[in-house]
Amino acid sequence: MGDAQSSETTEMCTAIRRLSLHPYSKYRIPCPRFNEPFELLSFSYDGQRKVRFDDSELKYYFPPIINPPPCLLDGMDTQIRRDHSKNEHIDGLLAALTRRYSYAPNEFQSDFVMYRGMITRIFVTPYSARDSWAMNATKVGSTIYIEDAPKSQAEEQSDFEQKMTYTGYKFETLCLLDHPTHQLRRDGLLDSALLSRSNTVVDTNREYCSVFRTRLGNHSIISGAEVDCIDQEKPGTAPNRLYRELKTSGILDSPRKLEMFERHKLLKFWAQSFIAGIPTVTVGFRDNDGILHNVEDFRTQDIPRLVKHKQGMWQANVCMNFAHQVLHFIKKYVVEEGPEMQYRIAYDSTSQEVQISALGKLEPFLTREFLARVAR
Ligand code: A3P
Ligand code: MG
Ligand code: MG
Repeated sequence: MGDAQSSETTEMCTAIRRLSLHPYSKYRIPCPRFNEPFELLSFSYDGQRKVRFDDSELKYYFPPIINPPPCLLDGMDTQIRRDHSKNEHIDGLLAALTRRYSYAPNEFQSDFVMYRGMITRIFVTPYSARDSWAMNATKVGSTIYIEDAPKSQAEEQSDFEQKMTYTGYKFETLCLLDHPTHQLRRDGLLDSALLSRSNTVVDTNREYCSVFRTRLGNHSIISGAEVDCIDQEKPGTAPNRLYRELKTSGILDSPRKLEMFERHKLLKFWAQSFIAGIPTVTVGFRDNDGILHNVEDFRTQDIPRLVKHKQGMWQANVCMNFAHQVLHFIKKYVVEEGPEMQYRIAYDSTSQEVQISALGKLEPFLTREFLARVAR
């Protein structure tokens, strides 16, 4: 990656370190090694958004019934929406790691700790060059912790956007069961479970999270990901191989819509699931009235090949090499240790570069408990 180093620049007066996205050719090289994610532990958020150290919110996949086609806007008025005004930082992930640390202290050495969403964002940047983003970072010991930067003002969603967001959650409820299918079948409860799930109230507080360790090239990472469901009873080893991601998309009724789906949506679906080692993405295609028309499974590992030879599409190796380089860049400049010292890592769509600057000493975003027990 010697090439990429040359596009790093520094302005001493403002102390902003810069890594340009260009030229892309420097990322068109073989992929860095990527280790299959290994689950360390899992936890759940209950209806009150309290962390529970169990799999109570893990759900089981059973294909949605699309005959007759359901409306994914049903029940929108009664949904329970998570309160996003409270900044949770990375508290859930840290709480789970704190708990795990008491009986497996050797598992925690890692270069980075961050939610999967941050890695996905970095992965897709070469092909979402117009979307700026910002994260905060702090280094304690030899580990760099990264969180989403607080938004100065939450962007308001339009009515249509709110509806389409709801359809994403509603689709999930139409694919999920509270118990493994074989158990419900054995007990003669499958039909009633399928019937009752169509009336399940959407509650976005509830989540199941998998915390895993992985490695991208030289960089070891501990991450956490919200996982939609699993295909069967959770096995003791490699549960990620049975996890499944659920997604929605507008119907692809024109060549243009297919192209946009492949260029933007499949890229995001692939990156999100690839990073957490989730092998299957199930996509529900709905129209603008929320009617679900068809459902298709994509194997995560096959997605890059689906788009590879098409004009103007994305390449997985560019995403992986770019992310590898960004993590290298972060390691190089997020150096001062201590939970108060914070840095801003931002992608600026105008200059098309990743920038790192020191924010100075601030209230730590790592929890007191985590600092007292783990990151000493
Ligand atoms: P879709 O992804 O099908 O649109 P996830 O897919 O990550 O499990 O998230 C479930 C749903 O939450 C999404 O379904 C979408 O409706 C909503 N959602 C997640 N992240 C979002 C974001 N950044 N902005 C708006 N909606 C989001
Ligand atoms: Mg989800
Ligand atoms: Mg999903």
